[in-house]
Amino acid sequence: MKTPKAILALLVLLPALLPATGGRSLAFHEGGAGECEGCHTMHNSEGGFAVASNGRPAGMGNRYLLKGGDSSSTCLNCHEKAGDVGPTSYHVSTPGSEMPFGVPPKQLGPGGDFGWLRKSYTWIPAFGSTLSNSEGDRHGHNVVAGDYGYLQDALKMTAPGGSYPAASLSCVACHDPHGRYRRDQDGSIAVTGKPIRGSGSYAIGAEPDAAMAVGAYRLLGGNGYYPKSLGPAFSFINGPPAAVAPADYNRSESTTATRVAYGQGMSEWCRNCHPNIHRDGSGGGLVHPAGTEAPLGGVMVDYYNRYIKTGDLSGVEATSWLSLVPFEAGTNNYALLRNIVTATPTKGPSTADGTPRVMCLTCHRAHASGWDGATRWNTKTPYVTYSGKYSQEGEAYQPYGQGRSEMEALRAYYDRPASLFSPEQAALCTKCHTSVP
Ligand code: HEC
Ligand code: HEC
Ligand code: HEC
Ligand code: HEC
Ligand code: HEC
Ligand code: HEC
Repeated sequence: MKTPKAILALLVLLPALLPATGGRSLAFHEGGAGECEGCHTMHNSEGGFAVASNGRPAGMGNRYLLKGGDSSSTCLNCHEKAGDVGPTSYHVSTPGSEMPFGVPPKQLGPGGDFGWLRKSYTWIPAFGSTLSNSEGDRHGHNVVAGDYGYLQDALKMTAPGGSYPAASLSCVACHDPHGRYRRDQDGSIAVTGKPIRGSGSYAIGAEPDAAMAVGAYRLLGGNGYYPKSLGPAFSFINGPPAAVAPADYNRSESTTATRVAYGQGMSEWCRNCHPNIHRDGSGGGLVHPAGTEAPLGGVMVDYYNRYIKTGDLSGVEATSWLSLVPFEAGTNNYALLRNIVTATPTKGPSTADGTPRVMCLTCHRAHASGWDGATRWNTKTPYVTYSGKYSQEGEAYQPYGQGRSEMEALRAYYDRPASLFSPEQAALCTKCHTSVP
């Protein structure tokens, strides 16, 4: 356990890393290390009382003097809130008590609501079939957050296609709580050097210049990153991805789609923990390229742009973006990525922008989703919609909706009305492939 002395020692070292606050009402991390007191209790006390948690007697406090019983719980103190009426800004989790049977999680950020991990489903696919199921654990990254009821994955001990221990999977396995990774004017990433002036995740706001840097996309860990509690054995070797999100990133997509301009490096970043996934058949048998090895090429770019839904290839580049099947533009040109988000958010892939690619987040969400394998659409059924609906709620056999209520399936598709798809919509692999290979 670290002593207050260690914290104080770091306080001396860290000021140079502290970002100038931009005065935004929501500001906390500002792309770098937020106020220490947001996450740590300086004197092992809170509001005048000694901190006790996780069975430790009062006065013993939490590891690293954290305000929560563990790292992820400390994050969720702010990133999960009871009583949200809908998607709310930086919230990424819905309390279990607000999701009775048939009621979905609320948050619709691009990463996905961890609340899906709390929802398990069973259904009977056809007459005479046995009960099928979709366990909550399968719906994403099982972050360990004891105070909020999130437990380690019961089945997977390590990251598939790699060896990262599931017991150490927490928010800070992926995000650097001290936001040290920063992007300089020339696009390079460093952990020291120019001070961080603000978040580097958004289309509008701070930009790096000759004197100042901005935070890495979503405070993600870069080359050399590891949480102190785990140690350096599983250090990342690939840097954070280049991407730009809109300011209003957590919202219902019932009328318009949310556009994140993914630039490059997401697949390489995921491979920090999943180096061999989909290369050696460890991904449920699916072998699929991603990242620099997977350019769409001119023919597939054209097909993505023409594809609207099953049976309709009348689309055009300007309006072909489908947030359920995103791609990487294949560039780290931030001016271009920012422009896509603000000026042409519905634009599809274009070889004029870069080398458009498939990436891990083409098919997966980074946190969790309503489907097995944290996929963006249900990859375990041939039909995304059937008879014009996502779900067969109330019917005896549920081969396509698979136990999700219509409200849950709709939410899993980010509120995109089923009517925008064909009444018998094929798997979304067909946004790129003429048929599901
Ligand atoms: C967003 C939350 C957050 C903020 C803000 C934060 N920390 Fe931390 N800090 C953590 C977490 C979580 C850990 C434990 C990481 C782990 O699991 O290894 C930690 C660990 C530490 C450690 C021990 C391990 C190490 O990395 O050396 C020190 C020292 C520390 N923090 C100091 C600070 C100081 C000083 C500040 C203010 C400048 C600060 N922290 C701000 C979340 C935070
Ligand atoms: C004291 C409240 C608080 C705590 C504790 C906290 N956050 Fe945040 N977080 C916020 C707020 C407010 C925002 C939105 C404004 C901002 O980005 O500063 C945010 C935004 C973020 C973002 C998006 C930032 C960007 O620039 O794109 C990430 C990622 C994030 N938090 C991760 C974490 C992690 C991981 C932890 C735990 C180690 C944590 N937060 C702990 C309040 C908090
Ligand atoms: C497996 C890695 C991983 C873990 C674990 C993880 N995140 Fe993230 N997080 C990401 C990535 C990657 C993104 C960017 C997603 C995108 O833009 O599509 C992200 C995005 C975010 C955002 C922006 C909102 C959004 O939905 O895109 C916040 C806030 C955030 N994370 C907080 C957290 C908190 C809090 C935890 C722990 C409860 C956590 N993350 C755990 C990888 C992770
Ligand atoms: C073309 C779509 C697609 C792409 C691209 C893709 N995946 Fe997958 N992935 C899937 C599907 C489908 C599954 C099986 C999901 C299920 O049924 O549980 C899967 C499963 C997985 C699993 C779980 C494997 C297991 O043993 O349970 C991991 C981990 C994974 N993918 C990570 C990644 C990473 C990391 C990348 C990028 C390097 C990536 N995927 C790219 C579609 C994709
Ligand atoms: C810090 C390490 C780490 C990073 C980075 C990471 N993962 Fe994982 N991932 C894990 C671990 C550990 C597991 C196994 C435990 C679990 O499933 O909760 C896992 C499981 C998965 C699963 C299987 C979920 C299930 O239970 O079926 C998928 C899919 C996946 N990761 C995709 C990704 C994608 C996509 C990225 C990049 C956005 C990524 N991972 C980045 C550590 C990581
Ligand atoms: C964003 C576009 C895109 C999407 C969506 C997509 N793929 Fe692919 N897929 C590609 C590209 C690019 C390649 C590599 C070039 C090629 O084989 O045409 C590829 C290759 C493949 C291959 C051949 C792999 C090999 O190494 O032999 C299979 C099989 C495949 N995809 C299956 C799928 C399945 C199944 C899905 C849906 C779960 C899917 N793809 C979704 C773009 C996509």
